[in-house]
Amino acid sequence: MLEDNQRPPYTRGQWSSRLLFVFAATGSAVGLGNIWKFPYTAGENGGSSFILVYLICIFLIGLPILCCEILLGRHGKRNTVNIFNRFHRDYGTPAGWVVIGWLGMITGFLILSYYSVVAGWVMAYVVKSAAGAFGNLSTEGIGNIFKSLTGDPERLLLWHTLFMVITAVTLAHGVRNGIERVVKYFMPLLVVLLGVLIAYNATVGNMAEGIAFMFSFDLEKITPAVVLVALGQAFFSLSLGMGAMMIYGSYLPGGKPLLGTTAAIVTADTLVAILAGLAIFPLLFSFGIAPAEGAGLIFVTLPLAIGQMPAGALFGGLFFFLLLIAAWTSALSLLEPLIAWCVENRGWKRSTAAAATGAVAWGLGLITVFSFNEWSHWQLFGKTPFELLDYLTSNIMLPLGGLLIVLFAAWVLPAAIVQDETGIAKPWRAKAWRVMIRYFCPAAVVLILANLLLG
Ligand code: TRP
Repeated sequence: MLEDNQRPPYTRGQWSSRLLFVFAATGSAVGLGNIWKFPYTAGENGGSSFILVYLICIFLIGLPILCCEILLGRHGKRNTVNIFNRFHRDYGTPAGWVVIGWLGMITGFLILSYYSVVAGWVMAYVVKSAAGAFGNLSTEGIGNIFKSLTGDPERLLLWHTLFMVITAVTLAHGVRNGIERVVKYFMPLLVVLLGVLIAYNATVGNMAEGIAFMFSFDLEKITPAVVLVALGQAFFSLSLGMGAMMIYGSYLPGGKPLLGTTAAIVTADTLVAILAGLAIFPLLFSFGIAPAEGAGLIFVTLPLAIGQMPAGALFGGLFFFLLLIAAWTSALSLLEPLIAWCVENRGWKRSTAAAATGAVAWGLGLITVFSFNEWSHWQLFGKTPFELLDYLTSNIMLPLGGLLIVLFAAWVLPAAIVQDETGIAKPWRAKAWRVMIRYFCPAAVVLILANLLLG
């Protein structure tokens, strides 16, 4: 294997501006996690109490760790494996920390494998809504459309393949001509459309009940299991703990402090999740759907609303199209660390790397495809293969990766580097920040994980 110091000079990609980095990172964060996963996960875990714990996890644990992940990338300017080799060489940090890079690449593969299948459902729904398939159907009728899609492995495979090809082809174009070009136009558009849907909800949906459901904060429902799921969801939604944000950070030129930038990304991501909740929960109550419906939730509620709207076919097609964009900009970040590694360490062409890694993730996706039909009876701990994959990656692998990242940044890397990159100037703030990343964040993640493994 070529180490990066033995390779001929190679120019790495770079964002053309700091704003475009924010777009790309927000594009990574905002995805199916916010609009598809968040509402049903909240619904299954007690609604408002879950949301409260989720918000605490996002701001007290997610934000500091995200800042660490981005700053490691920006300072190291290498792919997620070489970065730790470089720190080892330059600062004498133990070589074993490179495990963060490897664990992250495996986690990315696993997440992308099912992410692509769900993004495939979204594609199918773009076509269905545009064709007017949701007009005036009952709740049950719409539910059956979803069941017949997930029950048909061939159709799932077709859409999954298409999504993976789009993702790989985009990545083959590189950082600036691929990722950046996509996020520049589509991120703003997504926000606008979500706003329109909420305005619609405010008029027809049961907004009061939705708000009550989300923000009544019933503390009794908070259990260790709920806290773990909330933490996992926070990591998933922030694209945290597998190197996606590290690799994006590595394309960001140095200079400006990072804490503010991180806060902007976190706020945007949280806002979209809350807005998605406000768009979806009121509909549940108006149409009498149980919030704990599971992975199919938004594929039932949104079409219901769309089916009754004037110009619903057009509007619905557009909405799912935008959800697809959100999924697309997220999927890019799941594969980028792997591609960067193939290109920089193995000397592959970017297009070869994109095709090869995409193909492997595609193959792994078959587990999810069959989870909903042929293998749906195959269960472990009461979970289907897809649910197991999701649980293992979101609730265990991402928090573990995040834990290692924050430990490395807080305890192993020279403190001056972290201080410098975050740009915290006031001494008391710098002190508070150090307490957060040295003690609070690692301890919180360890406690939550240990509680699961022991309890
Ligand atoms: N954050 C994305 C979402 O909410 C998913 C995602 C993209 C992700 N890159 C990631 C999750 C890296 C974990 C790690 O849909």
